[in-house]
Amino acid sequence: MAMAQAGHPIRLTASARCAGCAAKLGAADLAEALASVPASHDARLLVGRESFDDAGVFLVRDDLALVQTVDFFAPIVDDPYEFGQIAAANALSDVYAMGGEPLTALAIVGFPVDTLPLHVLTAIVRGGQDKVHEAGAVLVGGHTIIDEELKFGLSVTGQADPRRLLTNAAARAGDLLVLTKPLGTGLLATAAKQDRLDDARRTSLHDSMRALNAVASRAALATGVQCATDVTGFGLLGHASHIARASGVTVRLRGDDLPELPGARELWAAGIRTGGAERNLRFVTPLADWSAASDANVALALDPQTSGGLLVAVPPAQLGEYLSRVPGSVVVGAVEPRGAALVVLE
Ligand code: CO
Ligand code: CO
Repeated sequence: MAMAQAGHPIRLTASARCAGCAAKLGAADLAEALASVPASHDARLLVGRESFDDAGVFLVRDDLALVQTVDFFAPIVDDPYEFGQIAAANALSDVYAMGGEPLTALAIVGFPVDTLPLHVLTAIVRGGQDKVHEAGAVLVGGHTIIDEELKFGLSVTGQADPRRLLTNAAARAGDLLVLTKPLGTGLLATAAKQDRLDDARRTSLHDSMRALNAVASRAALATGVQCATDVTGFGLLGHASHIARASGVTVRLRGDDLPELPGARELWAAGIRTGGAERNLRFVTPLADWSAASDANVALALDPQTSGGLLVAVPPAQLGEYLSRVPGSVVVGAVEPRGAALVVLE
């Protein structure tokens, strides 16, 4: 049970786990259960749930599409306001990952009224609303239920130009792969739960997770990039495999070039492990080849991310401009013609 503590942070419970993406709940199992539900067939549905894309895209007019997504999860930080910010940034990210601009958001809340004071709820929703405003969108309402475990997130609707979407299917051999946030949120958040994260690293973790992917998305559209996804629960290897499969290419990643949150590889070496990484390992084992990579780099590439950065396939001619527009973005690999594995980590 979640309990109020001094200062009323949210106590993380044994059952509290991040469902930032379904991977953390056993995505493969869930996907199988949902696969037998018939898909929607409508010419206006440009991107549906069959693909591994980040959000649904619905054509309204030739020059206007709605981009819709929903994401919610249990707390991964103990400050309610920061949790609200992070959950909102994570939900908004799927709109940015499709090349959309968020318009409106609805809050989804499960709240344990018996164990937490109501001002915790106020702080969470205020954090979420502030992040929605930062994105230039409007929180128009929401729905709250009484729940044993605290959960918060958003359903977000954005708009996009249907001729200029960022999809998983548009990577081409020769493109460079750019990652716009460092990896390691799963490792650092797990260390924090075990009281094994110092304040400086905790601040780095929180700042990264609550940062919007707006700049990274707008820079992609401005430079003519067509392929992006956000790195969330499946980890870098999993999301890279989605791009590789959808685009019919192989993605080659360079392990030593993977950017990390301060201490991520070190925490892994010190024994920090996540359940999400184990599930990701099972998911990517048939798809990826990491025989030439170090164990620490493999761990970083499998780490499930909450509110991770965009993974963008950038043509060489646009690379300099993209990197200069997106502070903190790093080249982590390249796109090749389809080889034996969907993803190679070396
Ligand atoms: Co998601
Ligand atoms: Co996504």
